[in-house]
Amino acid sequence: MKFLIVLACIAAASAAPLSHDEAELLKGAWDQIKHNEVDILAAVFSAHPDIQARFPKFAGKELSAVKGSADFAIHASRIVSFISEVISLSGNEATLPAIKSIVSKLGHDHKNRGISKDQFNEFRSALTDYASSHASWNDNVAAAWNHAIDNVYAIIFAALEH
Ligand code: HEM
Repeated sequence: MKFLIVLACIAAASAAPLSHDEAELLKGAWDQIKHNEVDILAAVFSAHPDIQARFPKFAGKELSAVKGSADFAIHASRIVSFISEVISLSGNEATLPAIKSIVSKLGHDHKNRGISKDQFNEFRSALTDYASSHASWNDNVAAAWNHAIDNVYAIIFAALEH
């Protein structure tokens, strides 16, 4: 079992990093939506109410009632700022350890909250739907976007499992 865990860690750690060009495509798309914090979190909650239900401050409330609140804006800004930080660190070999470190911490913190892989996958699909309908999008942008999320999720899923 330990051997399998070590193998999983190596697999997670050795995913091909984003190329410079992929990182540029990703940054170009993210720049077009990164100031839409509240809209992004609302799109995630609207597509997946089970994610909203995990937040003590928002659980059991109508999305329309919480969307305009200070708490909502603060949490939306935390999530979007985290993504902005990871994206700004991407495309540079020297910053890979920093990405691994902050993403792994996010995974462990969410493991402690009992967040599942399925919920992370729901988050991914809602965020990708949002990005592909609010930023200029084509096959190259989609490939860079998916490569980036595959890499980040490999780290998060390893953290959720250990
Ligand atoms: C997939 C479903 C997710 C659920 C159900 C979830 C749930 C939570 C909860 C309950 C909190 C604590 C909120 C509070 O203190 O009031 C939190 C904090 C946070 N979440 Fe998530 N989260 C999810 C995904 C994500 C993702 C994908 C990101 C980043 C891209 C993220 C970034 C953060 C950050 C930055 C914080 C604040 C720092 C911390 O306490 O870890 N979350 N999340």
